[in-house]
Amino acid sequence: MRVTIHDIQQMKERGERIPMLTCYDFSVARILDGAGVPMLLVGDSLGMVVLGHETTLPVSMDIMTYLVQAVVKGAKNPLVVADMPLMSYQPSLSDAIRNAGRLLQEGGAQAVKLEGGEPMAETVHRLVEIGIPVQGHIGFTPQSVNQLGLKVQGRSKAVARRLINDAVALEQAGAFSIVLEMVPAALARIISDRVKIPTIGIGAGVGCDGQVQVLHDILGLYPVFVPKHTKKYAQLDEVIRDAVTAYKDEVVSGAFPTAKESFGMDQQVLDELAAEVRQDALLASAGMR
Ligand code: KIV
Repeated sequence: MRVTIHDIQQMKERGERIPMLTCYDFSVARILDGAGVPMLLVGDSLGMVVLGHETTLPVSMDIMTYLVQAVVKGAKNPLVVADMPLMSYQPSLSDAIRNAGRLLQEGGAQAVKLEGGEPMAETVHRLVEIGIPVQGHIGFTPQSVNQLGLKVQGRSKAVARRLINDAVALEQAGAFSIVLEMVPAALARIISDRVKIPTIGIGAGVGCDGQVQVLHDILGLYPVFVPKHTKKYAQLDEVIRDAVTAYKDEVVSGAFPTAKESFGMDQQVLDELAAEVRQDALLASAGMR
């Protein structure tokens, strides 16, 4: 049965840590579902790890909606959260409602995530009011990379205080959970104790109620940039390279495919066909065709 936002919130109440991972396609969604990951994020990090952009900024609503559909088809049990791309919610409340609605209606997601604290509280409130669950995202917010720089947020008292206020504002607005990205571990713990809704950390220490990571980072699939907060649980780029090299070598040598990977046909049909082809060739060489 599909995990709900209430299940996620009860995990915090029971003191159970919440694992979350990004996911961008059908086949991998099935695997993550099978592994029992309760919450998946179709993150706009797809702009970098799937599409090869330098930032998350170019991701469009069309691409996000399309990939959300694929993940939802593959993941039958996890709660699927769809990231709202840059400019899909900032310009106006009606943009936010239309686009969040699209991610649920067309994409099939169960919730959306958007970046920003107190300034986004009204938007979050309105979305929740009309029945669209929202996950907040504060700290380092990748859509603001040009403003913030790729830096830990909240080391100064003023910014730390603002992040606490942001978390409280999002909770009051009705967010079901908040992602804390690149925030000092001690501050993330304070925020996690301060709000009742689950905090999901990425580079925010073990004091958060859950953790999210970009799948390509933990699997060793995105060597372009490896964040300090990532732990590699596999080195899949090497596994893929070895497998593909073996395939390439076998194609070149003729070792692949064998009879096992080929399709047979009825011998009589084959004999008749061969006789016809021989006849055609004879006629052709005699200039009769
Ligand atoms: O897009 C993404 O993958 C995210 C995570 C970093 C939380 O927003």
